[in-house]
Amino acid sequence: MPRVRFVQQDGSEKSLEVGREVSVMLAAVRNGVPGIDGECGGCLDCATCHVYVDEEQTSSLPQPSEEELELLSAVSGERRPNSRLSCQLKVLAPLDELVVHVPARQS
Ligand code: FES
Repeated sequence: MPRVRFVQQDGSEKSLEVGREVSVMLAAVRNGVPGIDGECGGCLDCATCHVYVDEEQTSSLPQPSEEELELLSAVSGERRPNSRLSCQLKVLAPLDELVVHVPARQS
């Protein structure tokens, strides 16, 4: 089963098995990963699921939609080139593990 590794600001990590059809945000919320709120449930309305994708993996993911890019401009934490909304991310083949870094704040 594919995995997502969540890395916190203090360097602590949590690795979860995640089905390929489950978003990274949903996996985080269901498993109590701190720092990912997902307030809107994944309908691109809150930007509280912001993460930084591991820089070496950004090119392995589909590009963000216009809607995601627009909402990324409203994130509370620092926006970076590897910023993504985790409700829009899944661990797609051929990736077996996705590494995301949790920002300092979501709101
Ligand atoms: S959960 Fe609201 S935008 Fe991702």
